Amino acid sequence: MRFQFTDTPERYGSVSRFLHWSMALLLIWQLATAVARILVKDSALDEFLWGTHRPVGALLMTLVLIRIAWALTNRRQRPAAVSLMARLGHVGLYALLFFVPAFALLRQYGSGRAFSPFGIPLMPGFEGERIEWMLIPANLFHSWFGWLLFALIAGHIVMVFVHRHRAGDTDVLPRMLGRR
Ligand code: HEM
Ligand code: HEM
Repeated sequence: MRFQFTDTPERYGSVSRFLHWSMALLLIWQLATAVARILVKDSALDEFLWGTHRPVGALLMTLVLIRIAWALTNRRQRPAAVSLMARLGHVGLYALLFFVPAFALLRQYGSGRAFSPFGIPLMPGFEGERIEWMLIPANLFHSWFGWLLFALIAGHIVMVFVHRHRAGDTDVLPRMLGRR
C-alpha cells in the first residue's frame, strides 16, 4: 500500500513521520529562541523569538503526548532499533521531550499567571500566593534538561548519518522518510 497510516516493521507510517518531522521543526525553532536569549539578549530578534517560546513549548507538549500514545499503540509493528544504544537514546529523547515542557507548564500554573497559548485560555491564573512546590522542578531542571535535549538531538542526527554511511550498517533514514 502506498499510503500507510500505521507503522510497519520496514518503515514508520505517515502519522509517526508527521509527528517526527513537525516536532523536529518546532524544536529547531525552540532552539533558536533559547540561543537568541543568550547571544542577543534584549534585541528585537530576542524579544520576537522569546515571545513564542512558551506557546511553541505548549504545542510541543501536546504533540509529544499524542506521539507517546501513538508509539505505544504501534510498539509491536514499528521498525526495530538498530542497537540497545539506539533504543536507549530514543527512550531518553522521549523522556526529555515530556519532562522539559511538563515541568515548565507546572511552573507556569504555579506562578498564578494566566497563560493563553495561541489565544487558547489554557490557564486562567489566580490571585494570591504562588504555589511554591510547582515552581521547583522547572527552576532546577527546565533549562538544563532543555540543553541536554538539544545535545541528545545533535547526537541523534550524527548517528543517523553514521548508520547511513558505515559499511555493513543499517541505513535508517529511509524508514523515517517513508521510502522503500
Ligand atoms: C520542548 C519544549 C521546550 C524546550 C526544548 C525548552 C527549552 C528551554 C531552554 C533550553 C531554556 C534555557 C534558555 C537559557 O539558557 O536562557 C528554557 C528556558 C525557559 N523556558 Fe523553556 N523549553 C520548552 C518549553 C517551555 C514551556 C512550555 C514553557 C512555559 C510555558 C517554557 C518556559 C521557559 C522559561 C520561563 C524559561 C526561562 C527560565 C528558565 O531557564 O527556566 N519553556 N527553555
Ligand atoms: C530535531 C529533533 C528530533 C527529535 C526529537 C527526534 C526524535 C526521534 C525519536 C524519538 C525517534 C524514534 C522513533 C520515534 O518514536 O519517532 C527518531 C527516529 C528517527 N529519527 Fe529523529 N529526531 C529529531 C530529528 C531528526 C533529524 C533532523 C533526522 C535526520 C537527519 C532524524 C532522523 C531519524 C531517523 C532516520 C529515525 C529512525 C531511526 C530508527 O528507525 O532506528 N531525526 N527520532
